Amino acid sequence: MTVIQWTEAMSVGNPALDKDHQKLIQMINDLDQAAPDFLELFNAVLDYTTGHFEREETHLEVIGFPGLDAHRVQHDSFADEVAAMVKEYRGHAFQAGDTRLKDFLWSWLKGHILIEDQRYAAWTRARGG
Ligand SMILES: [Fe+2]
Repeated sequence: MTVIQWTEAMSVGNPALDKDHQKLIQMINDLDQAAPDFLELFNAVLDYTTGHFEREETHLEVIGFPGLDAHRVQHDSFADEVAAMVKEYRGHAFQAGDTRLKDFLWSWLKGHILIEDQRYAAWTRARGG
């Protein structure tokens, strides 16, 4: 099982949003596809992610980040893909060795925090924020 840890390289320079990212990483680390309450845990990750996206988008609105619309599209497409996976899982639970879900969550989250979120972090830094 891949375990990812939050590192300074993931910092977006905003303590509240960094905390959100740390919590999210922890929640995904704790996701166990074989656990009887997996769907509950998975839904909790989804809920937390939705709340986090809202907090992040509000922050980007407040600071006037010019890439907000594109960033919002990324968040929305993630929500769509995960919703599709939940639907699939409800239809027939994933096999024990099927790691698609976690792989997807990790690769998306890592790419998003390390690349996409760093765009607004760099933009904020460039403005002296
Ligand atoms: Fe984001």
